[in-house]
Amino acid sequence: MGAQPKVTTEQLIKIKNELGKAATATLIQKKLHEETGIMVDESTIRGRLVAAGQGLLSTKDTGPDVNLGQQTKTAPQPFVMKQHAVEDEFKKYIPDATIFVGYVERPVDRRLAMHYQTGKFPVSQGKQGTGKTMGHLYYAHKANLPFALLSCHEEMKLHKLYGDKTIQNGNIVFRESEFVRLTQVPSVILFDEINAISNKNTFDFHALLQNRELFVKDADNGNGKWFKLHPECKIGFAMNPKSQKYIGGNIKPSNFLGRCTFLTYPEFSVDEIKKAVSARHPKLPKAELDKFVKYFQAITDVIDKSKLPIDVSIRQLNNLIDFEQSGMPLKEAIEDSISGMLDAVSQPAAKESFFRIAQACWTSLKT
Ligand SMILES: Nc1ncnc2c1ncn2[C@@H]1O[C@H](COP(=O)(O)OP(=O)(O)O)[C@@H](O)[C@H]1O
Ligand SMILES: [Mg+2]
Repeated sequence: MGAQPKVTTEQLIKIKNELGKAATATLIQKKLHEETGIMVDESTIRGRLVAAGQGLLSTKDTGPDVNLGQQTKTAPQPFVMKQHAVEDEFKKYIPDATIFVGYVERPVDRRLAMHYQTGKFPVSQGKQGTGKTMGHLYYAHKANLPFALLSCHEEMKLHKLYGDKTIQNGNIVFRESEFVRLTQVPSVILFDEINAISNKNTFDFHALLQNRELFVKDADNGNGKWFKLHPECKIGFAMNPKSQKYIGGNIKPSNFLGRCTFLTYPEFSVDEIKKAVSARHPKLPKAELDKFVKYFQAITDVIDKSKLPIDVSIRQLNNLIDFEQSGMPLKEAIEDSISGMLDAVSQPAAKESFFRIAQACWTSLKT
């Protein structure tokens, strides 16, 4: 792993002087990053400047003091998304802007970023299709962090992800996995659908969350080795609600959840759905968009009321419009994007009601 480029105290003082009275650690960090590509922690900037006799930075750094009777308390700072410097070999894991076309930013996105930025282990919870998984990807994209998604399952064991034995120059050696390597650099690692994992398999997670470390017993020629997580390695979770609709809906024990923070994801509003879909399909006439969204709402309503064991999200709505816009007859487009899912879950009878609703939205189904 290459060494991080170093910044000199002289460089910091120069930038501080250029910024004049406005200089705060945040602004110095930003300007330094813009000019040199080097990212330095704010605390390091403050420490270096104080050590160089440059005094404390403007109080804007920590916010003005607020008088609370006897105590003085530091006012909260407005939230600023931190940008991370990433070594070249990990850049390929930073989520690309193209996957966020039509992404609608919601207050929950800023909240998730705050959980991550303050070093928490956030758990996103909420119904299928409320943007939990995508929210973590979006944070990684915005914060310029490599992202890894690990989908959990009943038998998943964290230590099985640590690496494997491999042959090197005729000797059997243990090689750490990309997962372990990612824990050693600024990154976001999302354990998705943790409700599926059996509770006995959550023990490995305790040390990870408690001590921010992994013990890899095969590493160092079998002597074992602790890997301390990089301070900017962020671990997050997503889980579906406990309901018969979701298989493997284990409730996690509190010693696991007790180390986490929680975000409940709201369902998308009609306006948000319209915004997301029209950004993906800019040529779609407004009247058509309204029909598609009306249809989408009506079938999600039926799914809820009839407790059908499927979930549809903006993803299926986008698939439907993709098909229709590429010339597929509407009935087939509905079948291939949404209603066909009912065959997959052995509920073919419900398919008919999806088409009846479509009839109501489009007076005659375009065939
Ligand atoms: N903030 C958002 N804005 C627009 N579309 C979104 C957003 N979040 C998610 N989506 C859409 O919804 C789909 C489902 O999101 P996902 O994150 O997989 O949901 P969950 O993990 O809660 O089941 C995504 O494929 C994407 O099309
Ligand atoms: Mg998900």
